Amino acid sequence: MYAAFRSIGAYIPTKILTNADLEVMVDTTDEWITKRTGIKERRIAAKDETTSDMGMKAAEIAIQRSGLKKSQIDMLICATISPDYFCMPSTATIIATKLGLEKVTAFDVSAACTGFVYALSIAKAFIESGMKKNVLIIGAEKLSAITDYTDRGTCILFGDGAGAAVISATEDKKQAIIDIHTGSDGSFADLLMTPNGGSGSAHDELDREKASCFMKMKGNETFKVAVRTLTNDVVSILKENNIQSSEIKHFVPHQANYRIIKAVGDALALQDEQVVLTVEKYGNTSGASIPMAINDIYESGRLQEGDLMLLDAFGGGLTWGSALVPFAGIAHH
Ligand code: UT7
Repeated sequence: MYAAFRSIGAYIPTKILTNADLEVMVDTTDEWITKRTGIKERRIAAKDETTSDMGMKAAEIAIQRSGLKKSQIDMLICATISPDYFCMPSTATIIATKLGLEKVTAFDVSAACTGFVYALSIAKAFIESGMKKNVLIIGAEKLSAITDYTDRGTCILFGDGAGAAVISATEDKKQAIIDIHTGSDGSFADLLMTPNGGSGSAHDELDREKASCFMKMKGNETFKVAVRTLTNDVVSILKENNIQSSEIKHFVPHQANYRIIKAVGDALALQDEQVVLTVEKYGNTSGASIPMAINDIYESGRLQEGDLMLLDAFGGGLTWGSALVPFAGIAHH
């Protein structure tokens, strides 16, 4: 049995936060943000809109496009670092109930921006082992809830949104997800983290910062490790599977920074039309960024059945991953 990437869906919040808006909030400029990141605007969820609300909406679309009935979904994984509630319940269980999926196996994955690739690898393993048949994987983030809008080093980067995909069992090898790499290095934990709010933080001082779960990032160091790690990872996954970069129809990287994407794309000698870019309009949406980007090329008609995608991601942990994924499309019975 193989695992096939059947369908994609996304939810994009309507409110837009532009670079001009941020110029009023912190000491920054549109020119600096555009030059250093490629970001022009990002989406922000409504005050009362939760990560599970967005994940549920993306999932509804992915299920409908998969041609499956909801009752056929037997596992739901949500990749997020901005869950509805810290610790419990998981955002996955809340989404499952909102979707009306009864008694489904549901859990969250914590791998930051690499979460969707980790979730994909778990779905693949469960399907190939025969334990599950149709796995719904979701990347959903309300990063605005954990962003410090007084910190210009991070608040210019992040946005909200959700994406979802249905991964299904197939006997057709042509539709099979070819390979997935995942890795981590906790010795770099302090480069990108939410230092407060967990058992690792001191709770003796309840000031604004201690009470929050704001992200902190050593941007420039993270940038350098990201370029090095991602380049090595995509080069090795292609080599191990004997695939040339010219065979990649869509390179779908985590959308953290245009300069990182460009550096990795150049290392693979990719043409512009192979590289999927949404960073300009959505910013960095962590675990949601890859499925939101895949949805973008699906909705614009660029993604066709049989197209080979190369996914790559890098994020807090540190974590990283890459995947070689043909787009299988709807099940033909
Ligand atoms: O998604 C998970 C993984 N995350 C990433 O991969 C993000 C990786 N990092 C980055 O994308 C980039 O490092 C940033 C966009 C965050 C920063 O770009 P950079 O080119 O690495 O800049 P820098 O941090 O080295 O800062 C350069 C200068 C500093 O000023 P001085 O010390 O040279 O005077 C910063 O204080 O830019 C200053 N700066 C800003 N200036 C205007 C930092 N943030 C801003 C800002 N506006 N928003």
